[in-house]
Amino acid sequence: MIHGELNLNAEAASSLEKLLPRLKAAFKDEIAADPQTWQVFTERLNTHFPALFRLYHRLYAVRYDFFYHLENLLVELANASFSRPADLRALDLEREANPLWFQSNAMVGGVCYVDLFAGNLDGIRAKIPYFKELGLTYLHMMPLFRMPEGENDGGYAVSSFREVHPPLGSMAQLAELSRALRGEGISLVLDLIINHTSDEHIWAERAKKGEPRYEAMYGIYPDRTIPDLYERNLREIFPDEHPGAFTWFEQLKKWVWTTFHSYQWDLDYANPDVFNHMAAEMLFLANQGIEIFRLDAVAFIWKELGTSCENLPEAHIILQGYNALTRIAAPSMLFKSEAIVHPDEVARYISPEECQLSYNPLVMALLWNTMATRNVDLLHQALRGRFAIHPATAWVNYVRCHDDIGWTFDDADAARLGINGSDHRKFLNEFYRGRFPGSFARGLPFQENPKTGDCRISGTCASLAGLEKALQEEGPAEVELAIRRIALLYNVVMTLGGIPLIYLGDEIGTMNDYSYLDNPAHKDDSRWVHRPAADPQKYARRHDPQSLEGRVYANMRSIITFRKAHPELAGGELETIESGCGSVLMYSRSHAGSRRLVILANFSEQTQAVSPWTVQQNNLLAKTRLFGAAQALENGAVQLPPYDFSVFG
Ligand code: GLC
Ligand code: GLC
Repeated sequence: MIHGELNLNAEAASSLEKLLPRLKAAFKDEIAADPQTWQVFTERLNTHFPALFRLYHRLYAVRYDFFYHLENLLVELANASFSRPADLRALDLEREANPLWFQSNAMVGGVCYVDLFAGNLDGIRAKIPYFKELGLTYLHMMPLFRMPEGENDGGYAVSSFREVHPPLGSMAQLAELSRALRGEGISLVLDLIINHTSDEHIWAERAKKGEPRYEAMYGIYPDRTIPDLYERNLREIFPDEHPGAFTWFEQLKKWVWTTFHSYQWDLDYANPDVFNHMAAEMLFLANQGIEIFRLDAVAFIWKELGTSCENLPEAHIILQGYNALTRIAAPSMLFKSEAIVHPDEVARYISPEECQLSYNPLVMALLWNTMATRNVDLLHQALRGRFAIHPATAWVNYVRCHDDIGWTFDDADAARLGINGSDHRKFLNEFYRGRFPGSFARGLPFQENPKTGDCRISGTCASLAGLEKALQEEGPAEVELAIRRIALLYNVVMTLGGIPLIYLGDEIGTMNDYSYLDNPAHKDDSRWVHRPAADPQKYARRHDPQSLEGRVYANMRSIITFRKAHPELAGGELETIESGCGSVLMYSRSHAGSRRLVILANFSEQTQAVSPWTVQQNNLLAKTRLFGAAQALENGAVQLPPYDFSVFG
């Protein structure tokens, strides 16, 4: 018999028809107790199953046991739906009715390590008044799951997704905390580390014992044959730690795929068992009240011989599959992608069906580029050509995070401006290591690779912006400039469009902390220089306008207050404007037909002026200056003091 092309919609419908009665039988007690949940569940399933089926089929149809895994997945979904707490079900309905809630100008994010910021989960709870004072509506706590003692990559080596690392608290406390935060208008964000587990995770432990089902969850090879084939095309991510992407495990007498550290074992998503296991962990966590998952290292989750094993089409399918699961069992959930890769690739993770949110690593890196060069061209070009994304999604714009800064701009973009990408990266690394003459920065190299010349940069916002050097070697004038640089960077991310994210500590000008060198678990990873413990004495000075902390904090508070008062800053509609002045970035914002705010940012320590022509074109003199210190001159130009950020509207 000759068959036509498989009609996947018809197959999806007929699969669901076969599976639903089995599900109904398996959950008959739950259904009797809670018919309403079953009804909502089946409605959502009917809507989203065709997409889920298509994606799952695309990944796993080649497996003889495809249907078995599909059925298990539906069981997980039904389980999750029945065990979802009532307040989260209410939240689901609320967010289904208002799916673009995250685009509000009231949104402001913050990120911190639980232990370093507040000791433990109770400590974080005690900080809620502070988060509110600052204006946060989004709190990302760095990984807090059970992790190995000693080296654990700041928690990115997860030993159990269902347990909080004991010194930090318990899963019950986490769920309570999420509720307490939500009660105060703050959404909890946590990492879902899907690419790997720690080598102490129960799955890895069972693999180490040679259990075939668990060995099959990881990339484990008896000898170098296959690893060597893969490595022909792989990038080295943490070359300081181990060369290539594989680690020899003496206990197993085998090679294990370890993209990051050797104690972080990559999962093998070609195995549907892995997809389903991680789905169950995700749904469990969603029911603890996490509202946004930061999906860690998404670029690496699918491997294919002969490719770089980064950003492959199947990686997107996996994320879309997980997205479909949340639409069915936890529809208020959002995904944020962490893809610190080429800007073309970053954009591919963003869509309502995949990740509604994404870090904006390009803008982050180019903000620092602009600070170093005092020239806005690359940033302006990126905002013009690469900022617009689907209207139902949003960028998460940031200045610093817990990771290094990589110079991820596109070489062809740079070439169009007459800039040689690789030379320019060398310059930026020299500049931020403080080795370029006149540099204000105090950064450290991260993962410098002598084979390729690659290097990235560690350091806190304040130290990279010149505060450390100004305090130690210069004087009050340079301190003032550094404080203005910090403010300018944050003012831009607060107004570009999308969700601004503060790396907590930056709001009081926290500088590098070199004590990581004394900690054997940290000394080989310079990112710890920008992960200091919060200093209560410094935080206590934040309301003192004479103190450094107070000066930085006042700036942060004023831009947050401004953002929250201006609905023009909601959403992501941004228009770039040629300022005609190399150091002045100019853009306008409006939302849903609101008036237009025109923004000017001077990235230089010199006073700058935009020409009368630019002023007229943008009708600046007819507008009110709502923020900043720009002044109209007699000749019709507008002049900006050093590092000034002004808004007209
Ligand atoms: C992400 C994290 C980074 C971690 C890596 C491995 O990139 O941001 O800190 O080292 O994933 O999990
Ligand atoms: C981590 C590393 C970063 C690397 C990225 C890849 O974030 O810190 O340097 O580029 O992973 O996703």
